[in-house]
Amino acid sequence: MAPVATNGTNGVDGQSSANVASRVTLHLGHLPSKKDIKAQWPRTPTRVDPNNPPWPAYRGYHEYSFAHATMQSRLPTILGKAIEDAIRTLNEQSAEERVVDLAQCIDRMGDLMTDLSGNAKLRPIIDDDEADVALWNKEIAKFFQGKDFMNAPWLFAEAYKYRRLHEAFSVSKFWKDYDVFYRQKCDTFSRSADAVFELSLRFAEPFKISEELSPSERSEAERLMFLELTQVCLWGNSTDLSLLINMSEEQIKTLQSTGGDSLAATEKNILGNHMNKLWEHVKTLREKTGGRVDFVLDNAGFELYCDCVYADFLIQSGLATQIRFHGKRYPWFVSDVTKKDWEWLLNTMVYGQLFPKASDEEMESLRRLGARWKQYEKEGKWVYEQHPFWCTGYTFWDLHSEAPDLFLHLSRSDLVIFKGDLNHRKLTYDCAAPASTPFDVAIGPMASSAGAPVIASLRTIKSDVVVGLGPEGDEIAEKLDKEEPGWKISGKYAVVLLSDGRPGEKVRFA
Ligand code: F6P
Ligand code: MG
Repeated sequence: MAPVATNGTNGVDGQSSANVASRVTLHLGHLPSKKDIKAQWPRTPTRVDPNNPPWPAYRGYHEYSFAHATMQSRLPTILGKAIEDAIRTLNEQSAEERVVDLAQCIDRMGDLMTDLSGNAKLRPIIDDDEADVALWNKEIAKFFQGKDFMNAPWLFAEAYKYRRLHEAFSVSKFWKDYDVFYRQKCDTFSRSADAVFELSLRFAEPFKISEELSPSERSEAERLMFLELTQVCLWGNSTDLSLLINMSEEQIKTLQSTGGDSLAATEKNILGNHMNKLWEHVKTLREKTGGRVDFVLDNAGFELYCDCVYADFLIQSGLATQIRFHGKRYPWFVSDVTKKDWEWLLNTMVYGQLFPKASDEEMESLRRLGARWKQYEKEGKWVYEQHPFWCTGYTFWDLHSEAPDLFLHLSRSDLVIFKGDLNHRKLTYDCAAPASTPFDVAIGPMASSAGAPVIASLRTIKSDVVVGLGPEGDEIAEKLDKEEPGWKISGKYAVVLLSDGRPGEKVRFA
């Protein structure tokens, strides 16, 4: 290499330091010319961890992202409403012990509000005997020491807030299972009357295809019904409470309209659409004398009701013999299903009087539907489960390593349907992957690990991550960015994506 320079004291030509350049100058002319080197994404799954995500992760301090709006304003608003709910309950109490205990819960919620709005560091979770404490604290200790609400990945920080909210109650004596969102969840279902009865009137009568049709007409009728109900199940996800807290009955009605015409119109808003592929997979299940389908549930109330209508069809048509529903162990992301929400829905359908304006025919249809669903539960055709892993900050890239029992359990399923936005964020590591990224690549080990089940994601798009839009996906996303800012959070668009489900040998158990 040519002349090296001086360090300021001894010039190479022996001149004094005053006469020579004072900086080292390297001549790199013989090296290859400068290239625009881009970071290699995605990282290979074995090198991925929460601080080294497969693509850049969204964080609260990214001001352009929905992460920022959520961490900065939506979460404090949601927490404020939760505090109001607890205060309302406090004011209804009489026994001193219970009052004092609840007042302490409210104080702890106040502490959480201070931490959240003051962007405090994430502290470990107090041991409250929940089955997920070790999972939480392991992740904090390994990856988030010293991190705060804004600089931790958004997914983890947001989940952590709901865990801390739960902790405010779980350490109490009388209020361990109190659900600050319960009133809202029930209320939104009661304001969904039109869509609820439209579905109950159509589906109360057990599903049957006319005997007079030819075999090919029968299978076409079944296919169309499947596609329609897949959309019912999908769009049921646009009514989650964390975004729709202040919606009027009229606005909810528009969002929930489930008529055939409106479904045909909404199909064009499914930007990544594997519905036909999904049908091709589902129709093979009957040949195996009916399959097992798992729903990793999202929201309670109307969305859960739509999920059940879909699951009911899968059972009645003989496509599935068993449906396993996976819910949350405690209140989560405002509207997610807990066991109590599950029981409430089925019981209110059969015994409740939620809809004073409904006709006898409407109420009867709802009762019949509810009674049938309860019967499925009794017969073990429908099973409700709540694994602790679902309420952690881990993404599903870690499901096989952090919850191997759950992974093996899901491996036995013929199809695992993940509902909603948060589940989609967890499947995709909540990263800024290009919109053209194939679904199988975006979900990493959930597609590539041996034993991974076939996975479907039914999600209306309500946050930044968007993948699976096909080879033209980047252009589609760019166009929408320009023409419809906010398209990623409106819930107007959706994806129905299916994994390939050929990751080596399937694990099968007796
Ligand atoms: O707070 C943001 C968020 O986590 C988004 O993912 C989404 O907008 C909402 O909350 C939850 O949506 P879903 O109920 O569909 O998972
Ligand atoms: Mg939800």
